[in-house]
Amino acid sequence: MGTNIVWHDHKISRADRAKGKGQKPCIIWFTGLSGSGKSTVANALDVALHQAGFHTFLLDGDNVRHGLNKDLGFSDEDRVENIRRIGEVGKLFTDAGLIVLTAFISPFASDRRLVRNMFPAGEFVEVFLDTPLETCEARDPKGLYRKARAGDIPHFTGIDSPYEAPKRAELVLNTAELDIDQCVTELRKHLVDNDLIEQR
Ligand code: ADX
Repeated sequence: MGTNIVWHDHKISRADRAKGKGQKPCIIWFTGLSGSGKSTVANALDVALHQAGFHTFLLDGDNVRHGLNKDLGFSDEDRVENIRRIGEVGKLFTDAGLIVLTAFISPFASDRRLVRNMFPAGEFVEVFLDTPLETCEARDPKGLYRKARAGDIPHFTGIDSPYEAPKRAELVLNTAELDIDQCVTELRKHLVDNDLIEQR
């Protein structure tokens, strides 16, 4: 941390900003293998919540890596930094009163824990897209598994870089068994049941 830097308390609090939006802020953290459906399901939930009048924001791995995190690759160190930055950005957006959705592989349990601990209890909702590697690999929407198997992409998650599955995610969805609408329904039910959003 830099020296001679003093934290300034804002005059408008986090609670003030959330109240202005008429919603509770939270971060819905999708984690899972490439091709597990994180972006697809997060987008579908984003649309559903937006249409219901909630103020949401979606942070997506492939997009964030084009901008804020374009200096980062896929070494263990870079993935750690990727997730730390997303956590901080997510924190800023929730401080602004928004419901944040994130779609990153986030393969390491310690990084997900670090982000979880940035948020007040209950505000971090970990959603594990527990889709078998074989299904993700069969889908291979970007042709990356094929390249990884051919040795053209080193450190590919699930092939030669580990994915540490969450042990206590708030919600587990297997997109090999559930379609997108069923995932969105389960997600909305979870958010309502846990008093994170009101039924609309
Ligand atoms: S994370 O591991 O740091 O959380 P992130 O979600 O940002 O990953 O980016 C993953 C996306 O980058 C994948 O969906 C895939 O399209 C692409 N990608 C490129 N190289 C790799 C790699 N070595 N491992 C995993 N994904 C990769």
